[in-house]
Amino acid sequence: MKIHNSIESLQKELLPFLKDCKSIGFVPTMGALHKGHVSLVEQACKENECVVVSIFVNPTQFNNAKDLEKYPRTIEGDIALLKNVKGNIFVFLPNASDLYQDQIISKKYDFSGIENEMEGKHRQGHFDGVGTVLNIFFRTVKPNKAYFGEKDFQQLQIVKKLVEIENLPVKIIGCPIVREASGLAMSSRNKRLDIEALNEATLIYKTLSEVKVKFQKLSISELNLLVKNKFNNNDVLSLEYFEIADVSTLKTALDKKKNTKYRAFIASFIDGVRLIDNMALN
Ligand code: PAF
Repeated sequence: MKIHNSIESLQKELLPFLKDCKSIGFVPTMGALHKGHVSLVEQACKENECVVVSIFVNPTQFNNAKDLEKYPRTIEGDIALLKNVKGNIFVFLPNASDLYQDQIISKKYDFSGIENEMEGKHRQGHFDGVGTVLNIFFRTVKPNKAYFGEKDFQQLQIVKKLVEIENLPVKIIGCPIVREASGLAMSSRNKRLDIEALNEATLIYKTLSEVKVKFQKLSISELNLLVKNKFNNNDVLSLEYFEIADVSTLKTALDKKKNTKYRAFIASFIDGVRLIDNMALN
């Protein structure tokens, strides 16, 4: 494993791979790595000759300055975790001015409306920030394949649109959500929670699982009510949104249509920490 702090040194390292048409895998992260990230890196190492793992807390995708400030930063632990993964790994730790060059601002994207649903509604400008930084990363790293977790399912759909819009020759690979034994989706933000809160937060997974079981029998409005009541009866978690959405458009589903795939999505706050999760329903 090698660490690169500058674009120049990373690109020098990658040049022989590009020249020999060897496959470069890319796992972009904001650090505070956990087993979910490790599973992405492991898959990337199996499918590529080398893998770039970037660690960069991207300021332009945060609509809330406190959230950015409190985002966990655990660089030493991250590097220790990556050292245990077998593969030809290059860790890329750029700084904001190197990456963004002139101005640390987002480009405005039209992702065919996907950006206006769920996370987009609640985090203004979030996907412009994600799109901007990934566009820079893809052009810098020139990966053949890039790996994203389905926990950020909406982000995954946005990234697929981004590479179409920007005409980038990279294959986007979605990978399954990695969960704790309790069902809680692994997330860097879990690091900000104590044991009690982590235990309470399993309500998110339990709710999604119940919705999945009841999806065939209950209507969408009944399911919406069921979830609302569950969170209303819990003093610790507050629900930001629950939505059942059509997987292809991510538009809120009001009723079930034949031959349509649905997914349930939750965003919730616990102890000031925002957690998201989702689950395929059919
Ligand atoms: O999912 C994340 O950690 C971030 O949104 C990403 C893809 C690394 C872009 O900053």
